[in-house]
Amino acid sequence: MAEIGIDVSYACSLLRAGKLVGVPTETVYGLACDAMNPDALRLLFKVKGRPTSHPVIVHLAHPSLIKNWVTSVPKELEAIAERFWPGPLTVILPKAPQVPYEVTGGQDTVAIRIPSHELTLALLQEFEGGLAAPSANKFGKLSPTRAQDVFDEFRDEIAYVLDGGACQVGIESTIVDLSKNVRVLRPGMITREELEECLGVSLEAPVSFAKKESLPEEDETQIRAPGLLKSHYSPNTPLKVIASDELDEAVLSYQTKNLRAAVLAFRPPSSSVGKWIVAEVEPEGYAKNLYSHLRELDRCSCDVILVEKVPVSQSWSGISDRLTRASCR
Ligand code: TXA
Ligand code: MG
Repeated sequence: MAEIGIDVSYACSLLRAGKLVGVPTETVYGLACDAMNPDALRLLFKVKGRPTSHPVIVHLAHPSLIKNWVTSVPKELEAIAERFWPGPLTVILPKAPQVPYEVTGGQDTVAIRIPSHELTLALLQEFEGGLAAPSANKFGKLSPTRAQDVFDEFRDEIAYVLDGGACQVGIESTIVDLSKNVRVLRPGMITREELEECLGVSLEAPVSFAKKESLPEEDETQIRAPGLLKSHYSPNTPLKVIASDELDEAVLSYQTKNLRAAVLAFRPPSSSVGKWIVAEVEPEGYAKNLYSHLRELDRCSCDVILVEKVPVSQSWSGISDRLTRASCR
């Protein structure tokens, strides 16, 4: 059974021995292993239930270490690193030949992030290498934002969970591709506008297949970014995103069918429902608690989770993306 604790040196020794460790980051908890150890990487994919073609992010202690993982450093990186790191941003760069196949899923690029959580930074400094760390959830499920979530998901399948408390950002990092045309692959709490302002250029809108009526199945020929996956970040209960003015009607229509709805909305309930959580009105607070709210709604054995639609603006785009994906089944 995995232990939960705050022993960075113990976590480091487990990682050096090829074991899997849950680690806190400011976004969500990651499931970490030595990014240069192919056996550990294969174990990571197996435990997560993730297709091996789906690449993972390499986490480093400092931007000066990036040179060990890439063939070239694009001109945009310096400004981005200066402004956003350590922090909730991942960059895609051309990979160096020694980066294991398992990290990149055979692509010619590698994803790099410098996280800001102090425990994981201390771990990375002591480890002195790169840690591959996808979000610490079974493939396609909700990301964890507390050590207990990681423990509950993996129990005896992993060695240790480093407990860094509740994640402050709450949704996964923004991913920006710097390997070819600069573009956002996954929106997050660092917005496209902030990146544009930092780089002094305008960027293409993120690839958002989730908004289209019919979503493509995962296609081996396409770049394997999260935006190209049909369903992701899903609770077990079906989730629907509902416009504010249709919420009461939607709740009622489930009740008349004798079905129980669990709701995440910006206002309190106007009738009694299975479970109702009043969401934070600022995007930062909303994102921070989103996954724990969805976990709570998922646990109450309702028939459906109804989430009130969030505002349409850059600062809500990462949240809106996760909700759209959580609603695709
Ligand atoms: O906030 C985060 O990014 C968290 C924490 C733990 O750091 N990690 C995370 O990892 O969300 P994961 O594996 O759940 O999502 C990373 C996504 C993957 O869906 C993958 O498609 C994409 O990053 N990715 C990784 N390498 C890539 C590459 N070379 N090109 C394009 N996309 C890549
Ligand atoms: Mg994930």
